[in-house]
Amino acid sequence: MALNVALLRSSFDLVLERQPQLTPRFYEILFSRYPQVKPLFGRRSQDEQAAMLQEALVAVVDHLEDASWLDDTLRGMGKKHVEYGVTDEMYDWVGDSLLSTIAEVAGDDWTPELEAAWKEAYGAIAAMMKAGAAEAS
Ligand code: HEM
Repeated sequence: MALNVALLRSSFDLVLERQPQLTPRFYEILFSRYPQVKPLFGRRSQDEQAAMLQEALVAVVDHLEDASWLDDTLRGMGKKHVEYGVTDEMYDWVGDSLLSTIAEVAGDDWTPELEAAWKEAYGAIAAMMKAGAAEAS
């Protein structure tokens, strides 16, 4: 992936510094815009789920230059998501909600360049998860 790794990392650090727990707001946005996904969640407590998602995001940002780690991890994760009932179109909904969360926390520091970098990164992540999902089905 020819991603703007430095920009992604510095903006992610800034956002986590301002809001150490990103995921509660992410779920709030996701469930208000796309209430149809709410029934998929509930195996774990919301707090546990939020912590796991945030850890996964941090791990992905830490491994942006490690193509084989990304490929293995994200394909595996995509396969597991099929069991949760996740379909391909839902990746756009999650991407929209995640970018809105990051943009909201970044506030005045959010720029078109950052938006483009995050869209590209999320698109690459989602593509690998969807490839794993396709292998599972
Ligand atoms: C960047 C993309 C995503 C990442 C990094 C991510 C990460 C995670 C992680 C770490 C878990 C915890 C369990 C596990 O490791 O399997 C999880 C569970 C889950 N994810 Fe995702 N996910 C992503 C995309 C999505 C999408 C697009 C949906 C669709 C709505 C979704 C719905 C779920 C559901 C329903 C669960 C199980 C919840 C439960 O057990 O209650 N995820 N996800």
